[in-house]
Amino acid sequence: QDYGTPASGSDRMVSLRIDGRTVSAREGTSIMRAAAEAGISIPRLCATDSQHAYGSCRLCLVQVEGRRGTPASCTTPVAEGMDVLTQTPRLAALRKGVMELYISDHPLDCLTCSSNGDCELQDMAGKVGLREVRYGFDGANHLTAQKDDSNPYFTFDPAKCIVCSRCVRACQETQGTFALTLDGRGFASKIAAGMDEGFLASDCVSCGACVQACPTATLMEKAVIDHGQPEHSVLTTCAY
Ligand code: FES
Repeated sequence: QDYGTPASGSDRMVSLRIDGRTVSAREGTSIMRAAAEAGISIPRLCATDSQHAYGSCRLCLVQVEGRRGTPASCTTPVAEGMDVLTQTPRLAALRKGVMELYISDHPLDCLTCSSNGDCELQDMAGKVGLREVRYGFDGANHLTAQKDDSNPYFTFDPAKCIVCSRCVRACQETQGTFALTLDGRGFASKIAAGMDEGFLASDCVSCGACVQACPTATLMEKAVIDHGQPEHSVLTTCAY
């Protein structure tokens, strides 16, 4: 099971309430992980328990009694006596709105996509109850961006990227390589390999950590695309 954020190494425990249940968690644990340990699942896209929390997707918002706003549960640590709500009409509307924006900038080709049925974006859209998108598709920047096929083992399709940075963090935290960066702002923000010269020319060592970390079909093993399964995979140095 993936708890969303790494475990805390603290020996001290704190007690808090999540959705009316009293739970205890190690000091320094994120609300997201404390909830997951108690069997309460909070929607997320950018968090995994193999990477430090980054707080970019804004899908994991929660309400904390006595606190203004809706903090991200992946980057907010638990505190003694905290009273957290993870499922309210307000949170449901916010998450749906966030997901709607993601989908408005994402190709709607799920039925022919290699990740159909194994895509976290698709899963989360269903989980937050998204049925329709009020905005027109505005993926012009992504659609004009070229697919990067230069690496012999995997492809990078910017049209399907949600810029969650899980690949960048996997490259840095798992592999200790700095081949990937976040480049640009707003709709123009994107993942760049090296100085934007493509994966093959960058410092990428083809470990596959980024492919493993990707929640969509942006980074795909060529063996999966060609054969529907990774049986011929050569991405074997991945530390995941
Ligand atoms: Fe918390 Fe993305 S999972 S902001």
